[in-house]
Amino acid sequence: MEFQLKDNLLLGAAAAATQIEGGDQNNNWYDWYRQGYIKDDADPSVATEHWERWREDLALMREIGIQCYRMGVEWSRVEPADGFFDEKAIARYREEIQALRDAGIPVLLTLHHFSNPLWLEERGGFSVRDNITYYLRYVRKMVECLGDLVSEYVTINEPNVYAFNGYFEGTWPPGRKSFLEMSRVMTNMAAAHIEAYGLIRKTRLQMGFGDTRVGFANHLRVFAPKDQENPLHRFWASRVEQLFQGSLTRAMCMGRTAFPIGKHPSIVPGRYCDFLGVNYYTRSTVSGPADGVAEGRPVNDLGWEIYPEGIEAVCRKMYELVQRPIYITENGVCDNTDAFRARYIAEHLKVLCESGLPVERYYHWCFCDNWEWVEGNAARFGLVHVDYESQRRTVKRSGRFYQRVIEERGVSEALWREFCAYPTDGEET
Ligand code: BGC
Repeated sequence: MEFQLKDNLLLGAAAAATQIEGGDQNNNWYDWYRQGYIKDDADPSVATEHWERWREDLALMREIGIQCYRMGVEWSRVEPADGFFDEKAIARYREEIQALRDAGIPVLLTLHHFSNPLWLEERGGFSVRDNITYYLRYVRKMVECLGDLVSEYVTINEPNVYAFNGYFEGTWPPGRKSFLEMSRVMTNMAAAHIEAYGLIRKTRLQMGFGDTRVGFANHLRVFAPKDQENPLHRFWASRVEQLFQGSLTRAMCMGRTAFPIGKHPSIVPGRYCDFLGVNYYTRSTVSGPADGVAEGRPVNDLGWEIYPEGIEAVCRKMYELVQRPIYITENGVCDNTDAFRARYIAEHLKVLCESGLPVERYYHWCFCDNWEWVEGNAARFGLVHVDYESQRRTVKRSGRFYQRVIEERGVSEALWREFCAYPTDGEET
């Protein structure tokens, strides 16, 4: 196990506002918590108190040598009421982004990451077509206020996960269970992305900046048939892939519509990504319409299969649609005791580096352990451990490993042995 990073690949970390900030009570997720839907009852309005402790987190990023940072704006914080923008909150984001820049850490800014202001949620969020105008108003305002500091934007994070969990499975806010609504939300989000793509580029151009890059963070999985020989399993694998991610990817990148994405005047053929944002975690193994996990394979602490080869497969598939630089906008693992995170990182990076694909960024999910939506604080994905009682941060062993990979621009045999090898490696199984 040995590999070198390509010269233009930057290693960074990712975060989402709602999962770290604390103090956000004016959104759909705080409301979901209040209704008792968070497994360990952890309060998102505490999270990791990043809003107060951002300087401490930045100091840790510098210590580890993080080269780029994907962070989000909490819409409900900057626009707490319809049309009212909180200039103080925006100024605070400016301060943080400026400090990151001064530290040599460019920001990729996420404008929507699962969280809606309550006033919007009450009007139906993205299930209502006309509400896209609210999103675009907010996007324009953010670019006008932060656009001199930020050239790269994620319009929407994981529209498929948002639509599926919130409108089909009903486990996320607003708890709906309707295929039709899910498909409407996906369609509206594709339209919102396409419109935001043009708007962000235009707004920055008017501000005198021509170097804008806009994309979205696409949650992609490999869908494999449980039994490769079984035609029904093969049918469901490709069908579920299409329903969950395939059609939406085409709509958002290329303006093409196919079931379950409906027609919308803004979804017209074109190219709507300056980079291909890929969030990759796992492979699903299916024998029918339901999700499943392969037997006898390594899994993370949430039971998701660890399948490093998949990161190349999903990137290649998206790259075949639109040839743009690839940003791994998320990749990471729930590993509560930090037993296999270093190995997970090494294995995924190796696949990427040897793929021949133009991968320019790798944002590890995530920097500090954070509030993991319905899982609460119990699912740890961070390079840095957070003790939620004291809010004390401690760099994990995997964080130190990541630091060394950044310093050494790759993984040597010695580094692999020190951080990633298991005592049983090499033994017959
Ligand atoms: C989301 C993150 C989340 C992570 C791990 C992604 O689906 O964008 O917000 O924490 O996966 O579950």
